[in-house]
Parts: sequence; structure tokens; C-alpha cells
Amino acid sequence: MPDSLALADAIRSQTAKVGIVGLGYVGLPLARTFIEAGFTAMGFDVDAEKIRRLLAGESYIAHIPSPWIASCVAAGTFIPTSDMARLAEADAILICVPTPLSESRDPDLSYVESTARQVAAALRPGQLVVLESTTYPGTTRDVVLPILSAGGLVAGKDYFLAYSPEREDPGNADFSTTRIPKVVGGIDSQSLELAVALYSQAVVQVVPVASPEIAEACKILENTYRAVNIALVNELKVLLDRMNVDVWEVIRAAATKPFGFQAFYPGPGLGGHCIPIDPFYLSWVARKLEMPTRFIELAGEINASMPHYVIAKVVDALNEAGKPVRGSKIAMLGVAYKKDVDDPRESPSFKLMELLLARGAKLTYNDPHIPTLPSMRHYDLPPMKSQELTAQYLAAQDCVLIATDHTAYDWSFIAKNARLLVDTRNATRGVKEHRERIHKA
Ligand SMILES: NC(=O)c1ccc[n+]([C@@H]2O[C@H](COP(=O)([O-])OP(=O)(O)OC[C@H]3O[C@@H](n4cnc5c(N)ncnc54)[C@H](O)[C@@H]3O)[C@@H](O)[C@H]2O)c1
Repeated sequence: MPDSLALADAIRSQTAKVGIVGLGYVGLPLARTFIEAGFTAMGFDVDAEKIRRLLAGESYIAHIPSPWIASCVAAGTFIPTSDMARLAEADAILICVPTPLSESRDPDLSYVESTARQVAAALRPGQLVVLESTTYPGTTRDVVLPILSAGGLVAGKDYFLAYSPEREDPGNADFSTTRIPKVVGGIDSQSLELAVALYSQAVVQVVPVASPEIAEACKILENTYRAVNIALVNELKVLLDRMNVDVWEVIRAAATKPFGFQAFYPGPGLGGHCIPIDPFYLSWVARKLEMPTRFIELAGEINASMPHYVIAKVVDALNEAGKPVRGSKIAMLGVAYKKDVDDPRESPSFKLMELLLARGAKLTYNDPHIPTLPSMRHYDLPPMKSQELTAQYLAAQDCVLIATDHTAYDWSFIAKNARLLVDTRNATRGVKEHRERIHKA
């Protein structure tokens, strides 16, 4: 039987083994999606500690329960391993490794390349390889394909290759991986057909597109759209504040328009692994093509200036209370980059902390999801632990800065006990009493 037919059969009967490379915020939920659809998933990661924890039935991602991991590992439907030679056992290999920026803010494809080399070393006829990591258009064809084909196997004939971007929305209980439509572009029609067949077994809707480049560009468009629109409301926030108009009320009113408007909200800056990074993958390509991407650069500039705006608001609020930042006790609420997640990557809270410490603030923090401040590549912050959010703790602060609006926070309690609040998320909108203590930023 030709390799493609055997693979199609295995996908249809769910006997195909699905290998996921990179068991992070994207890879682990993806493994769960396939296991829940009836497949056996092999999970590959170079981080030996992650594999050890998974084998011990322990989750490291808040919304994936440990007992579920333990039961799948015991049942043999989830096989975590750091032995990359076992990639040969998987029928489909889905790559979910990081795609960060380098120091010079260029795409860092080193993880994708090293994974592709590992896959190439184990590649056998009849396997489907899908890149899921966010990247610039052309990566699957120009970077991954040559590495995989170097050993002599031919894409579209011996093995199959596609790109399908991940659209995870961490913290959004309404949209687990299963419920989010998946865009798929194949390097040829056979690869597309097989990738569509595979994802159709596990997710609500599969959207086939004509090429991997379209699927790659689609993901970058989605994230650039967010970055640009967030920059727009951030800029309007600053302008409207000068006019004494509340931007949050303006957006709330505009959002009642049933067509042609989608609400985006201002904040203390951009965070997460996607929106502050992905648009720069596109501007890097544009630079090579000698074309400026002014929207992307401008959005980056405005969003990056937001922490400075917030600090100016903290300075003003303390000033009104007759206090300098130096020596003032400031508590930051939230270091996760968005509400209800335990992911601190690229969080604007780190920049805010750095700016406050540089001005001599006596800084502490609380985050129910992040008990200890992790060390971050770009920030040199002292070790800190999340403080207990008691009435005494709040009352002892000169200023409480709301950086992340976790659902767990009781805003009325916080406003009742804090002397001064600076709110970057409009988190205190429902608070009725002590409004004079609240400054929006
Ligand atoms: N986190 C999100 O919300 C999100 C959403 C959509 C898309 N993405 C994209 O998905 C990709 C993965 O992001 P993430 O947030 O899951 O990253 P992550 O850092 O949480 O996980 C990546 C994992 O890959 C592992 N890894 C690195 N190199 C490896 C290798 N050579 N072999 C095996 N494992 C390796 C790491 O140890 C880590 O566990 C990125 O391209 C990101 O832009 C992320």
C-alpha cells in the first residue's frame, strides 16, 4: 500500500501515533486534544525536568490537571519522552517549539532548526510533519523542508509536510484547543489532505488553505492586527486622559455598534509570547525585501512606551499624596502577562518593576498564580515572593499598582484597604466606595 494511503488509514482509524515536539503552553494542550479524540500521543521535549514531571503524573500548566496526566501516562495513551530517536515511532509529528526574537530583535529559528534536524535524523517514509510554531511566511518551505529532505526522502512522496498555526488563547475557558478552527497549508496536495484528515479528527473545524505560506502569514496577520489595534487604544487612552475623557467608557459605548467595530482594550504594555514578538517576524522579512512596515514599528513603539506612561501616573498619584517614589512602599498586583494565567513571559509587569526599583521604590508584589518571581532574560530583578494579600499588607502600602486583573482579586476589599490605587486595567470599575483613592493609568 502506498505510504500516504497507509497513513490516511491510520489517521481514520485513530491508530496513528501523534508525536508532539515541545510540550509547553501550546504542545501540552495539543497532546491533550489528540488524546481526548482517541489517539495515542507521544510527547517530546528536551527539558528533562518537564518529562520527569509528566512521567510522575504532574502537570506544570494550570488548566491541564495532574490526575488527567497521571491517568493517560498509566493507560499508555500519553508517552512523554526526551529520547528523540523515538520520533521514528510517531506517524505524525507536530512541532511546537519556541520562536523568540534574538537580541537584535530578528527571528530566532534555532529551536525550529534543531527540531527539524532531530526529526530528519528519525524520518522514515509515511510520516507527516507539521510545523505549528509561529513564524514568518516561507519558513516551512525554505527552512524546514531542506533539512528534512537532506537525507534523500522526498516531501509529498515519501513523507508529508504542512504548516498549521496554533491559536491558543490562554486563560480563555470558552476556547480550548479542540474548539478553535485550525488553518492548514500543505507543501503539496497530498500533505494538505493528510494534515486536514488528522486535525479533522480532533478539532471543531479545519480550514485548508492553498500553501504553507498562506497559513504562516495568516497567523502573523492575526497577531499584528491585535498589536496594531491595542496600540491604537493605548494612544487614544493617553490623548483622552488629557481631555479628561475616560477611554474605557468610550470603548464600552463604541462596542455597542453591531458591525464594523471590535473592542480592544488599553493596558500597561504588551505581554505574552506572541503579540510583542510575532509582528517583528514580518518586519524582518519586509526589511529583507526593502519595504518598511510602518504600522508594525509604530504599534511596537506605542505599546513599548506604555509602562513609562503608567509610571508617570504612579509618580503623579504619589505626588498628590505628598510623597516621592523613592522610599515609598509600592505593591504590584499581578505579574502574569494577562488575567488568570500563570505565564509571566514578556509581561509588562517586569518593565514596571524595573522602572519603580530604579526610582527607589520599596517594591513587593502579589500574584495568586505566580508564587515566586521567575528570573527573566531581559530583566535583572531581585528575588521576590508573592506577598499575602491581607488588609494589613494593603494598608501598609503607599501605592498599590494594578498590573493584571486576575479574577481572584476582590477589588472592593482592595480599594477598602489600600490608601492609593493606580489601575491600569479598569479592574476597579465595579467598586462603589473609596473611588477617590483610585487613579486610572
Ligand atoms: N503560548 C501561546 O499562547 C501561543 C499561542 C499561539 C502560538 N504560540 C507559538 O507556539 C510556539 C510554542 O510556544 P509555547 O508558548 O508553547 O512555548 P513554550 O516555551 O511554553 O514551550 C516550548 C517547549 O519546547 C521545548 N523545546 C525547545 N526546543 C526543543 C527541541 N529541540 N526539541 C524538543 N523540545 C524542545 C521547550 O523545552 C519547551 O518545553 C511558539 O512559536 C509560539 O509563538 C504560542
